[in-house]
Amino acid sequence: MCLKLLIVSIALRGVISIGRGTPTCPNTDDGTGLCSFIEASNGAAIPELLQSMMSMRVDRKGLKQFIPNRLEYPKVEPGGPIGSNEKLDENSERLFNFLSGPESISIVDNFLYAAARDAIYKVDLRSGNHTVIFNGNENCAVDGACSRPLGLRIRGNQLLVADALKGLIEINLTTGESRVHLAVGSPIEGEPLLFPDDIDVDWEKQIVYMSDGSTKWPLEYWAMIVLEMEPSSRCEAQQEILAHGTFLATIRDISCLYRRRRLIRSLGYSDPVIIFLNRIIRYDMKSGKADVFAKNIRFANGVQISHDKKFLLVNELSARRILKYPLDSAVPASGEPFTKLLPGNPDNIRPSLSGGYWVAMAMGRPNGSRNLLDELQTRPDLSEKLGNSALSVGGLVRSIGVLLNNTPLRDLGHKVATGGIIMEAIPGHGCIVELDVDGNIVQTLQSSRTFFLTEVCEREDGLYCGSYQNSFLLKVPRSTFRNP
Ligand SMILES: *[C@@H]1O[C@H](CO)[C@@H](O)[C@H](O)[C@H]1NC(C)=O
Ligand SMILES: *[C@@H]1O[C@H](CO)[C@@H](O)[C@H](O)[C@H]1NC(C)=O
Ligand SMILES: *[C@@H]1O[C@H](CO)[C@@H](O)[C@H](O)[C@H]1NC(C)=O
Repeated sequence: MCLKLLIVSIALRGVISIGRGTPTCPNTDDGTGLCSFIEASNGAAIPELLQSMMSMRVDRKGLKQFIPNRLEYPKVEPGGPIGSNEKLDENSERLFNFLSGPESISIVDNFLYAAARDAIYKVDLRSGNHTVIFNGNENCAVDGACSRPLGLRIRGNQLLVADALKGLIEINLTTGESRVHLAVGSPIEGEPLLFPDDIDVDWEKQIVYMSDGSTKWPLEYWAMIVLEMEPSSRCEAQQEILAHGTFLATIRDISCLYRRRRLIRSLGYSDPVIIFLNRIIRYDMKSGKADVFAKNIRFANGVQISHDKKFLLVNELSARRILKYPLDSAVPASGEPFTKLLPGNPDNIRPSLSGGYWVAMAMGRPNGSRNLLDELQTRPDLSEKLGNSALSVGGLVRSIGVLLNNTPLRDLGHKVATGGIIMEAIPGHGCIVELDVDGNIVQTLQSSRTFFLTEVCEREDGLYCGSYQNSFLLKVPRSTFRNP
């Protein structure tokens, strides 16, 4: 890491002299520390730069290392309910093109609520008329977005939202007033809340269960979470650093950690000290207290309280399965698999009208096949190189883009640094899965044209499928998936 930064600083020499002045950093959490480094350097001469680099304190978000784990999947028999089909496109409609990335949806009577990229919308299903009921991106302190709602739950006039950038939010649907219950950054058992992803609510007890997709990577770096297969390994020393809260590491510390990790590996241990990074937060709305309900989950995503209210089902996106945790157990609860390997990476999970569940696959796999992601997850030697070079090269390109005030270059660098560009090499495949009450696959609806689906909401007239990326809701008529 240290060496990489040296190279980077040398590469930046010319640029820094051109770009003297005060470049602004649009996103200080750039995964490499480069942007904050350049900000801090503010056009200083190279020897001074090196000096400041060696002693510079960076915050934890400012300097990250990609440390992949390994996961070997069982072989999946093709055919049966996971056999390829194109049912998602049979007689389906693309509705409401004003919605950008409606990840989560909720329908009450004839009104649909959608958590889109820019805001939460209320849509009248009869007329298509819509209003914005919550816009968290107004008055952002920093350039860019400061709200991204990803999970919605409604009862009466109470709407609860997991917002990846803001935290757990409550909106009063009568008055439109909102309040933050648990802000991103609030420490929960020593680790700040970083990536709220989905929620479910025990309304009687007023308890919220919310997934924190990672305590290492924020939303924009979700590709890194998938590739890295958290729970991640880190050195003991880094764990000590984390325990001290805010300040964090020197560049020297990080390279030392890295060497130590190699040493541990060379002694034949597979992984250094493991600290658990992905978790489910339990929040009591009456007392305002939060604790960790479950941890050690590989990209905790959708959550759903089971029909009998005995379990919390948790989508483990990176590991392509769903776990179940008894709700009445001591915390942290221990989970067991609820499903076998799923035909894709499960995003959100919601009840089906037949007594089971619908699960949307963010990235589906047709008929038992494997894609690049599955290959990389079994090859940490390769994904480590891929992940770390994406972070450093992308971070460098982005920093140069910032210095030159060139937005396309900055955005390109960002796409590389976040791993988003790696995801573009993965063929899209749409897949939603109906599970029975015991977690067995009943049926799948797939598409080679419509993909990146994230949530399914079933009503009498059909399925409404949300998506993190599409600019519409997919509506699948009932006749496609239910026998008359
Ligand atoms: C699934 O794959 C198997 C094995 O390659 C093949 O025999 C079968 O026809 C495929 N089924 C579907 C529905 O694609
Ligand atoms: C939809 O909006 C239009 C224009 O604001 C209005 O004229 C119409 O009455 C609305 N329809 C319904 C069913 O609310
Ligand atoms: C929403 O606001 C209304 C009007 O002030 C109030 O009566 C109601 O109790 C509020 N609902 C919640 C869930 O706080």
